[in-house]
Amino acid sequence: MKFQAIKGVRDILPPESALWSRVEQSARDVFHSYGYGEIRLPMFEQVELFARSIGQETDVVSKEMYRFEDYELVDLDAERRSLALRHPQIENPSSVYTFFTVAEAVISWLQQSLITGQVPRTPENEGLARELKGLYDESAAKFQLPKYEGTQSDLDLYVDQIRRAALALRLGDSLALRPEATASVVRAYIEHGMHTRPGNVKLYYIGPMFRRERPQKGRYRQFYQIGAELLGPSDHAALDAEVIEMLLAFFARVNLKDAKLYINSIGDKNCRPAYVERLRGELQKVRDKLGADSQRRIETNPLRVLDSKLPEEQPIIDKLPRIAECLCDACREHYAELKRQLALRKIDYEENWRLVRGLDYYMRTTFEITAPGLGSQNAVCGGGRYDGLVELLGGPATTKGIGFAIGTDRLMLSLQEAGAAAKCALDVYIAWMGVQAYPAAVALARQLREHNLSVELPAQEMKFGKSLSLADRLGARFAVIIGEDELAARQFTVKRLADGDQRRLSEADLFEYLTSSRKG
Ligand code: HAM
Repeated sequence: MKFQAIKGVRDILPPESALWSRVEQSARDVFHSYGYGEIRLPMFEQVELFARSIGQETDVVSKEMYRFEDYELVDLDAERRSLALRHPQIENPSSVYTFFTVAEAVISWLQQSLITGQVPRTPENEGLARELKGLYDESAAKFQLPKYEGTQSDLDLYVDQIRRAALALRLGDSLALRPEATASVVRAYIEHGMHTRPGNVKLYYIGPMFRRERPQKGRYRQFYQIGAELLGPSDHAALDAEVIEMLLAFFARVNLKDAKLYINSIGDKNCRPAYVERLRGELQKVRDKLGADSQRRIETNPLRVLDSKLPEEQPIIDKLPRIAECLCDACREHYAELKRQLALRKIDYEENWRLVRGLDYYMRTTFEITAPGLGSQNAVCGGGRYDGLVELLGGPATTKGIGFAIGTDRLMLSLQEAGAAAKCALDVYIAWMGVQAYPAAVALARQLREHNLSVELPAQEMKFGKSLSLADRLGARFAVIIGEDELAARQFTVKRLADGDQRRLSEADLFEYLTSSRKG
């Protein structure tokens, strides 16, 4: 059998991975210069955390999360599943007897586990345990030999109800691989009482996220984000502008060309509901002209209709009311201040009234950055303000938040399309000949590595021509040759592979030559 990485998931290999590391290091450098510290978050959290923060009705939560149940009681699970596979028949008394014996075992095991807490003591589980016990007592009494007091269809009904209740039990926690990290950052902020820290709490993260989307160029099921979040008591638009400035400083540092910033304000809990209702009303009027997805969203989340990319919906959307007309005074002023703050920083932007973003926690500022070379998945970064989220998750209502996440895969694609390539990582290849040369080669390799040079030392002796050709194919910048002559002269021959320049150097000169060439 041949194994392959699963759909939507991929390996990032050297030398490309070196480019990734460089980009990630630039993020660390730039973010540190703005006072951000790294937060390392778990890869999975409770489903409920994401459902509450991102929104139950969003695509991310309702369709795209990788969920699993995490439980210790593997045997209890197997037993309840075996119950579901049994079909007791009246004419086969031993099948009836076995069914009730297994059911009894499952129920008493379950009751015990609810007491010890191995099965979560949720109201649903406790209700199901009572229901199972009731069904069992009633049915086992009826279907006891020597005489059954019911028909096969009575028995089938009980079996079906018992089976359904047993399978509905939640034996462990419902967890999900993280589809994004803002919810986790806020959870961690609250859990560790970070609101007591002085000033704003500024955190960044780098790592994989998971969404079960349809894979295509720039869209994966395991993808990577570089993100930053600022949490604190103020919602001043200068903070929004500084977050955007930092993001653009990072893009400049990694040489991303032609990135475009789009901004919008989607209001807050005072003004947005009225806008959403107005939008819903207008959408109802043009319902028949919309596709199935947009029709459904009229009820669930009309704002998301503005995200539609269907060509036939564009002229309709163009005529819809715009949120800028409906912002309350405070939101309008916040948005105007954001634009002043961006101008102060000489940041170019374009307003896009349709930028509502797909996650429910946003309010006021939203922004996105697009980059060339990405086709339809051209958003390389998305972010915005989420002032109510900390409170929603049980933290202090006074904490506001703003942040963004860059899609690293897309950033890399765009950089590579523009010609960025990883530089060769191998500095020196040591071509040694003759067994006497090997100890000198080992010692030299160790010393060069201590000077932070990347060194390849062949384990076995090779013919000179073969050795140099391998050095070339490995992309080494230099080959250091150690043979009988060099040993006798206590010198090394070093060949620059790009142009064939060759010289004989003492050990001290060799170090100087190799380390200074790396700097240049
Ligand atoms: P998001 O817009 O869902 O926002 O994702 C941010 C970025 O992640 C996108 O712009 C895109 O570049 C990248 N991305 C998303 N899904 C995929 C995928 N399937 N494959 C490749 N790249 C993808 C968030 O995640 C928010 N947590 C951002 C944020 C932080 N808002 C405030 N703070």
